[in-house]
Amino acid sequence: MKRFQTGAILIISLLFAGCQSSPQTQEPMEHGIYVSDFGTMPDGKAVSLYTIQSPSGMKMTVTNYGATIVSLTAPDRDGVQEDVVLGFDTLDEYIAGSPYFGAIVGRYGNRIAGGSFELNGETYSLAKNDGENHLHGGIKGFDKVYWEASPFSMGSEHGLILTYTSPDGDEGYPGSLQAKVTYMVTADNRVMVSYQAVTDKETPVNLTQHSYFNLAGPDSDTILDHELTIPADHFTPIDSGFIPTGEILSVEGTPFDFRTPTAIGARIDSPDEQLKNGLGYDHNFVLSDMSDGLKLAAKVYDRSSGRILEITTNEPGVQFYSGNFLDGTLTGKGGHVAGYRSGFCLETQHFPDSPNQPTFPSTILEPGGLYATQTVFAFSTDAQ
Ligand code: GLA
Repeated sequence: MKRFQTGAILIISLLFAGCQSSPQTQEPMEHGIYVSDFGTMPDGKAVSLYTIQSPSGMKMTVTNYGATIVSLTAPDRDGVQEDVVLGFDTLDEYIAGSPYFGAIVGRYGNRIAGGSFELNGETYSLAKNDGENHLHGGIKGFDKVYWEASPFSMGSEHGLILTYTSPDGDEGYPGSLQAKVTYMVTADNRVMVSYQAVTDKETPVNLTQHSYFNLAGPDSDTILDHELTIPADHFTPIDSGFIPTGEILSVEGTPFDFRTPTAIGARIDSPDEQLKNGLGYDHNFVLSDMSDGLKLAAKVYDRSSGRILEITTNEPGVQFYSGNFLDGTLTGKGGHVAGYRSGFCLETQHFPDSPNQPTFPSTILEPGGLYATQTVFAFSTDAQ
């Protein structure tokens, strides 16, 4: 494993990475950003694994295949660092079939009904990879492509810039889209994710991060006891194909009311039509604070470890997915089986199917415009 030099606002290109020497293997690592090989894609591209070690002890690994967060540690109430995200040990397992573990999803997070939409009088047909619908960018979405990676350091904080240009017509989308995702781990246990994109033709864009969290650590096989807060008075109900009906419904008196901390499992199996349609929670919540700045999207507390995750974003929505499609057939890192509802996702985003829903906030990016969103995953504990 190679270590990149740190320094004041030093941006190191991937090309330069080849010139870096002084491998460091001792544990615990000094804070910094390190790189190692992670395997080769079927097209021959060599993929890396970047390890970002924060001065606080938190460690995140990211591969440039899919701009994927492979592992992320966070301290429990006694300071014990454990991996709190689901993922695989090897690139081959990601390529063989990952349920978007830790990946960047694009061009469009979540579903576009019927795999088509109209824009300026033209109908665009997208790849259909979820029955009749288009899901998470299509057959080869941003989660399955090679991203160029550039590590950087700002003082004692370190991060990675990942870029990918999606060509005109990619999965059916108009325009060439240049996307950039920046990950940074701060000294106070925050993972900052910022997304930028520019296009040369109008196109829908809705990028998100698809990490599955389990704050109780890798040995835990359920997230049902995690206590969740989502400051949303409304959510977007779905039909039995997971497509928003277009309504914006009040959460009041429903199992979707997470305005006060509630265990994920408390109502998940109640006889509710929306829970039936989603096979559990698989719904977009409309954040009550519609301001453009960063605001709380969700807070999760695991009482067993004391870990707390607070997610802030400038997006208007968050998709809460309770891991309902995990069925124990995938074995993740360290031989841990990814069981039913053993990880949850909180995907900050614009609403699903917005290109076909005139009443939802627009997801269309225009040439000359800049797509810029930010999401922060902040870890703390109940001992603080
Ligand atoms: C999202 C979707 C789910 C499912 C998962 C990935 O959260 O809303 O329906 O596709 O991603 O398995």
